[in-house]
Amino acid sequence: MTYSDIYKRSIEDPNGFWGEVAEDVQWYKKWDKVLDDSNPPFYRWFSGGELNSCYNALDYHVENGRADQLALIYDSPVTDTVRKYTYTELRDEVAKFAGVLASKGVSKGDRVIVYMPMVAEAAIAMLACARIGAIHSVVFGGFAAKELATRIDDAEPKAIVSASCGIEPNRIVEYKPLLDEAIEIADHKPGTCVILQRPQVTASMVDGRDIDWEQAVASAEPVDCVPVAATDPLYILYTSGTTGVPKGVVRDNGGHLVALKWSMSNCYDVKPGEVYWAASDVGWVVGHSYIVYAPLFHGCTTILYEGKPVGTPDPGAFWRVISDHGVNVLFTAPTAFRAIKRDDPNAEYLKNYNLDGFRALFLAGERCDSATLHWAKEKLNVPVIDHWWQTETGWPVGCNPIGIEVLPVKPGSCATPLPGYDIKVLDESLNEMPAGDIGGIAIKLPLPPGTLPTLWQNDEGYKRSYLSQYDGYYTTADAGFIDEDGYLWIMSRTDDIINVAGHRLSTGGMEEVISDHADVAECAVVGVADKLKGEIPVGFVVLKSGVDRPDEDIVKEIVQMIRGKIGPVASFKIATVVKRLPKTRSGKVLRGTIKKIADGNEYKVPATIDDPVILSEITSDLETLGYPNKG
Ligand code: COA
Ligand code: AMP
Repeated sequence: MTYSDIYKRSIEDPNGFWGEVAEDVQWYKKWDKVLDDSNPPFYRWFSGGELNSCYNALDYHVENGRADQLALIYDSPVTDTVRKYTYTELRDEVAKFAGVLASKGVSKGDRVIVYMPMVAEAAIAMLACARIGAIHSVVFGGFAAKELATRIDDAEPKAIVSASCGIEPNRIVEYKPLLDEAIEIADHKPGTCVILQRPQVTASMVDGRDIDWEQAVASAEPVDCVPVAATDPLYILYTSGTTGVPKGVVRDNGGHLVALKWSMSNCYDVKPGEVYWAASDVGWVVGHSYIVYAPLFHGCTTILYEGKPVGTPDPGAFWRVISDHGVNVLFTAPTAFRAIKRDDPNAEYLKNYNLDGFRALFLAGERCDSATLHWAKEKLNVPVIDHWWQTETGWPVGCNPIGIEVLPVKPGSCATPLPGYDIKVLDESLNEMPAGDIGGIAIKLPLPPGTLPTLWQNDEGYKRSYLSQYDGYYTTADAGFIDEDGYLWIMSRTDDIINVAGHRLSTGGMEEVISDHADVAECAVVGVADKLKGEIPVGFVVLKSGVDRPDEDIVKEIVQMIRGKIGPVASFKIATVVKRLPKTRSGKVLRGTIKKIADGNEYKVPATIDDPVILSEITSDLETLGYPNKG
């Protein structure tokens, strides 16, 4: 069947299409309904079905010929360690850690926060939760204590799993003080914290609450997989929204398993037994879907890499991993390739490695510039596939489905919608835009399996954030167009989310932090183009009248506040004090215009602007910072 036949069927007959796809996974009890549309706009998949995601990821393979195959390779250049787990070994580790959680009273439906660096134990903790039906919520290690506290209060975890430290190339990040501070700030207090003591730092433990990972596992009884409803949550993953409060994206067990397994052969063209590497972090959706779950559902070997594309130790790091472990397919963010290209423009390091088995490179997380795509294709001589998705969708929305059919590549486009995604480009009155014209990208409800059914304990927030803009559609908050060949082009966000090194961040959240500074009257944070990270946040700050402290001191304090309250991941390093912000007559800050000036793009002076002179002031402030050419 061609891509078009498959896509058409998925839209016209979702029950038939996904019902057949779902036969490929292991069920304790088959579903009553494939698509349960009894309570719109809340659609559920495979209601009545029962299964276990950990069983599908591990035990099934142990029982069906993959017991001695490698399931996971932990490769850590920052600690000079490589550790390999067969499917049996990983299953046993997970079963024992599930025993630790169970012995602390964690059971089906309870939440467990995982705040860990990129160590194998992070994946083990996630799978252990899945094994006993607990709901994990992984929090990225680059977030500060306050962000962690917000997630603790929303998810109300019974237990938290963490480690003594993470290792960044330039420093050791002690996690435990951040965890202790977060628990201190949060109203909700977890009963248990399981701490992995790493050799680099020994964390101090809180009596009666904290237990040592190694000791706990040594005495744990392994536990078996528990059947859960297909519609039960597997995890909550918090992602930036338009305010400082993150959104708790819920993922179910059944739809997620079915969609992810399907994607491995159809999008990524990977076969069971092959080696798949997503160079991301378990704290992001890419890490959930394509470091942990999908490769294991599919019987592949997955790589969990604790390092960077450059500097650990050099720009040949990715080629070393591909060659050492026989990686067939790599998935990462364009920023990683921009970093490699910057440090090794002629790809000299490639010459030291044998990449014979390497077949394809997939990029996502941010818009991929054509120069990076061409460079990667020319140097690696494999297809480079840009694909588009979001934390909310859990798996790609737009992708060249090379496992079905290799469609011609158009650099800058993520190719075509995958099955189940009925995509429309709309104007504000819900009219479809003509081919080539930019509009808001919306997906007709119901969304396919694997996508978010709702936000954690916040059905109203789900409707407000995603379903209220276009009646009957999910809004992606991305703007773009569909061309005359049906290819999708994702151009920008329509909200205040920016993408920094493939990490999704809210400028609104940063503004909330800056506004708390005693000397700040108002501020705007704008995502400005950056050669390495795609975008970086730049702050524009207006001081309260009468403040006579040096601007540099205030800027330093603001940078530190963002680092302390949101985390280093925000990459917030540039801010400037301005006399006033450009606004419309109704008081809306013209962030889009500031961005255009900073990026050196043409802009029209908005007709509604309060005072056009402010634009020349901002232009000269930006010039002082080195823009428009700096990015
Ligand atoms: N724990 C603690 N701190 C972390 C962290 C973690 N897990 N991950 C990143 N940080 C810190 C970094 O140390 C850095 O701190 P600094 O300001 O003190 O230098 C800051 O957060 C920003 O990190 P990052 O955005 O990763 O920038 P970088 O300059 O360290 O590295 C790249 C730049 C391009 C090499 C890096 O972003 C990268 O490898 N990207 C790959 C793409 C990727 O993983 N995308 C995820 C989605 S697919
Ligand atoms: P996240 O939820 O962190 O995965 O971020 C999702 C957002 O990243 C999307 O809404 C897009 O704005 C952006 N994004 C992800 N992949 C792509 C891509 N291939 N092209 C353009 N933008 C992308």
